[in-house]
Amino acid sequence: MADRGDERGRDRDFRVLMGHAHGFMVSQPVQVLFAACDLGVFDAAARGPVCADVVARAAGADPRATRLLMDTCAGLGLLRRAGPGEGRSSFANTRLSDTFLVVGSPLSQCSMLRYLAGTPYRCWAHLADAVRDGRDQYARAVGVDAEDPFAAIYRSEADRVLFTRALQETWSLCGRRVLTAFDLSPFRVICDVGGGSGALAREAARLYPGSTVTVFDTPEVVGSQLRPPGDEEEAGPRVRFIAGDFFRAPLPPADLYVLARVLHDWGDAACEALLRGAHRAGGPGSAVLIVERVLEAGGAGPPEALLLSLNMLLQTRGRERTEAEYRELAARAGFPRLRLRRPGGPYEAMLARK
Ligand SMILES: C[S@@+](CC[C@H](N)C(=O)[O-])C[C@H]1O[C@@H](n2cnc3c(N)ncnc32)[C@H](O)[C@@H]1O
Repeated sequence: MADRGDERGRDRDFRVLMGHAHGFMVSQPVQVLFAACDLGVFDAAARGPVCADVVARAAGADPRATRLLMDTCAGLGLLRRAGPGEGRSSFANTRLSDTFLVVGSPLSQCSMLRYLAGTPYRCWAHLADAVRDGRDQYARAVGVDAEDPFAAIYRSEADRVLFTRALQETWSLCGRRVLTAFDLSPFRVICDVGGGSGALAREAARLYPGSTVTVFDTPEVVGSQLRPPGDEEEAGPRVRFIAGDFFRAPLPPADLYVLARVLHDWGDAACEALLRGAHRAGGPGSAVLIVERVLEAGGAGPPEALLLSLNMLLQTRGRERTEAEYRELAARAGFPRLRLRRPGGPYEAMLARK
């Protein structure tokens, strides 16, 4: 009996091991997505059903290979067959691809996919090296070896624009949720620290019309000020940009400092320095709104957050943290009262007050 029990246990362990080892095959739809976006498949299908030859001609790609790619997209639910049978059948977008994979769609995630393909995906090939070295893998992945991870992320003008656009896309989907997790209307002056293109700041200005919002980011990012189309009239006048290095320059005075996906880029000492900067610059009663994906108590899950933490190892100086860890960081910087809310979606919101 004991032997059979051992065997069953071993079989289970083997299945788990092989599941993890073959995981790269399961994750290959990501490559199909990157390739199809890159070749403009979904943009072509957004104009009506289209066959592979037409897409191939427009993309300068091989027709047979394009057909194989589009067949696979259909198999993955990214396209549907709009015409019958074999040969020259045409394909149309599904609801998913129409919503998220067409460049001009308001909820488009195309820049995020391009960024994931161009930078994180390349870093992930060096995970074992990252664990050995205990640091990011930009030198191996993209040939840039710099102290500041953003020197690698922003290694060219095109890469900087792509990253900023990619991050902006998240907020078209979940900006409102994280900004309404708490009632922020009492905060009349808001500063989005490391606020990138200002997509979240604009959403804040729209949601809280009594507030003015400042984005504080690097001179290069502020210089380009990528504005989401159509946003200028409604939120524009109440959103302004200030350029600076948030580790060196004082932050502008504000009632609320937003740190969205910023603290997970940095080690504890740097996070504490950033939070102390917000504490110094904020008036009495000021607060910080931290927006991050938060690990479960004890740091044992969820798996997506643990994987993101490994991504942070590969790309930054930081990691994902538990609520208790954020609470401790905030308290050390002078914000002793932190509350966490889960508004649904990938990010949690934590409001910490002075
Ligand atoms: C991971 S991104 C988050 C952007 C934005 N908060 C969001 O969630 O979409 C980090 C941001 O911090 C900015 N950043 C990095 N180092 C900085 C520095 N030393 N001073 C000011 N901004 C910096 C980057 O330019 C980038 O916009």
